[in-house]
Amino acid sequence: MRAATAGRAPEDAELVASVLEGLGTRPKRIASKWLYDAEGSQLFDRICELDAYYPTRTETGILEANAARLAAFVPERAALVELGSGSSAKTRILLDALDDLAVYVPVDISGEHLRHAAAGLAADYPRLPVWPAVGDFTAHLPLPGELRDTPKLLFFPGSTLGNLEPDDAVALLRRLRDVANVAGFVIGIDLEKDVARLRAAYDDPEGVTAAFNTNLLVRLNRELGAGFDASAFVHEARWNAERRRIEMHLVSRRAQVVRVAGRRFAFEEGESIHTENSHKYTLDGFADLAARGGWRSRECWVDDDRLFSVHLLVPAG
Ligand code: AVJ
Repeated sequence: MRAATAGRAPEDAELVASVLEGLGTRPKRIASKWLYDAEGSQLFDRICELDAYYPTRTETGILEANAARLAAFVPERAALVELGSGSSAKTRILLDALDDLAVYVPVDISGEHLRHAAAGLAADYPRLPVWPAVGDFTAHLPLPGELRDTPKLLFFPGSTLGNLEPDDAVALLRRLRDVANVAGFVIGIDLEKDVARLRAAYDDPEGVTAAFNTNLLVRLNRELGAGFDASAFVHEARWNAERRRIEMHLVSRRAQVVRVAGRRFAFEEGESIHTENSHKYTLDGFADLAARGGWRSRECWVDDDRLFSVHLLVPAG
């Protein structure tokens, strides 16, 4: 018996069910949201600083260049609601430009990371109420009821929408369009480009992305008492040309059997666990996706090298 069993968080039931389901499927997969425990969120922050990982600095530059135009659009006393806020680094650009916000609501699946980031922001913006909300926004946006009538600007940077299959992305876009009183939606979307550049961004020479991916197994060992030997799996970033996405995989170096929550899963040598999709879009392709989700493009900004895009969407019709 492990002592840890007693103190399991409610999320664990969902983690167990999700992991058992994914490992029981062929090809094996584990949903990418489970990459973000406290350690995974920290590793992701390190990825954002890597030379090879161009999205973060490129999107930051686009936001800085266009924050004033964006501010001109945002209604007075609006709530800024950020999805998958992580460490809220890009938020500061918007907070500096939007000086009469009523409240900032960061939403993230990693509670610990969220509270830490919220405390840092509250210290730097003492007049701004910060109401962190822990939750999985792909299932339900956990917004406080008293914000119903407040105009909202949704902010979803980092191309995180790209983690979803296009149909799921459309479903999420529709649900967000139906949130009460949404004035606009600022969303960052990574663009299709040279495959070598894409692959390098997801398989950096420092090995930080490999550590981020492999940390998932360490997490399952700790939280589910799983028996993964992390060194028996190797990180791989693959370009799926047909589906226009980078995939992260953990590939088994050898034939092995791994115990997870009382079940045994056999791996062949070279068999992978698919851990993440990162879909890349063209500007037209994303405009179509947004339209299917009930949004119309009001502005679209890109960097000079056309690596990344930031869109200001408004509810269509
Ligand atoms: C934060 C989900 C957008 O897909 O580029 C970075 C996560 N994975 N390196 C992405 C990630 C590997 C990132 N998102």
